[in-house]
Amino acid sequence: MGRLLVTGGAGFIGSNFIRHVVNQTDHHVTVIDALTYAGNRDSLAGLDEDRLTFVRGDITDAALVDRLFADTDAVVHCAAESHNDNALDDPRPFLHTNIVGTYTLLEAARRHGRRFHHISTDEVFGDLAFDASERFTERTPYNPSSPYAATKAGSDLLVRAWVRSFGVRATISNCSNNYGPYQHVEKFIPRQITNVIRGIRPKVYGRGENIRDWIHVDDHSSAVLTILDGGRIGETYMIGADGERSNTEVVELILELMGHRSDAYDHVTDRAGHDLRYAIDGTKLRTELGWSPRYGDFESGLADTIRWYRENESWWAESKDAVEAFYAARGQ
Ligand code: NAD
Ligand code: TYD
Repeated sequence: MGRLLVTGGAGFIGSNFIRHVVNQTDHHVTVIDALTYAGNRDSLAGLDEDRLTFVRGDITDAALVDRLFADTDAVVHCAAESHNDNALDDPRPFLHTNIVGTYTLLEAARRHGRRFHHISTDEVFGDLAFDASERFTERTPYNPSSPYAATKAGSDLLVRAWVRSFGVRATISNCSNNYGPYQHVEKFIPRQITNVIRGIRPKVYGRGENIRDWIHVDDHSSAVLTILDGGRIGETYMIGADGERSNTEVVELILELMGHRSDAYDHVTDRAGHDLRYAIDGTKLRTELGWSPRYGDFESGLADTIRWYRENESWWAESKDAVEAFYAARGQ
């Protein structure tokens, strides 16, 4: 049995990853999470308490991080400020958590010689033209467009430098847009599902032609565990499931699956600097480590997700009003 430290374990990616680890392995998991607006202790409810230790704390707290690293074998770093619209409103927390936080963890990994896996996003590569034939690969140059993506790019580069300069045993994964249970209602898919549940018309930024490459969060989790077990130190792996869809296609499918007319949505103020398209070429992960996604079918994954939000209103109800007030003030 191994001891795993997961940062940001009360967030969307972290909590789903922990469920996956508890179900698929014998590892004991310790969580460090600051429980910001995005963290929810209830996202870990129902898990065997013997397998999980929860520590409320900030990843920039070097003394706390040092103590936790002393008692672990490997670290999966999911903690982040994660939402583009918030970064456009106030970038400062993104620099604090994504840059200083990652730096603090890397220094502890270096001191304690711990295996480190850094969770990142495909947004570090900027965007692709709608008609581009290439997709993002491990060799795509970094070219972030937004404050969020710039801080994630900075954190990836810190990891690479700590591998090369200090021999930290780290890997990086850059994944495309995730969907699934326990995702904060500020994000596109849960916002629209909970809008429909509340009788609010879904809101699509601009013309809605922007394309995202959707992957079910369980597939992201299995990919990360695969890299943690078999990934080569110092390497980067793209994670994607060939799920490209425009925002209007997604919202129309949500409306249909929820029993509404597919055109019952509004176009609202576009996001500043809105990236056009993301698309992942996941060949390396599939051929080198033999990973493949389980959710081949976006429509059934989305139907499962809609069911989860219908059945778990108590998990999201409290955040919903604040999120909608934030968007309303921005004309979104
Ligand atoms: P999230 O906002 O749902 O969760 C972030 C978690 O980090 C929260 O629990 C929050 O309380 C915690 N946190 C924030 N600042 C902290 C700090 N200073 N110290 C300790 N904990 C802190 O985000 P998410 O969607 O789960 O994303 C997690 C990671 O996955 C991010 O690095 C993101 O870039 C990456 N990622 C996300 C997606 C996606 O579609 N959501 C896709 C690819 C990569
Ligand atoms: P989001 O979930 O914020 O993820 P990201 O910015 O990391 O891609 O947004 C996904 C897409 O949906 C993006 O093109 C912005 C768009 N969007 C809307 O059209 N309406 C919304 O209410 C939100 C939150 C996002």
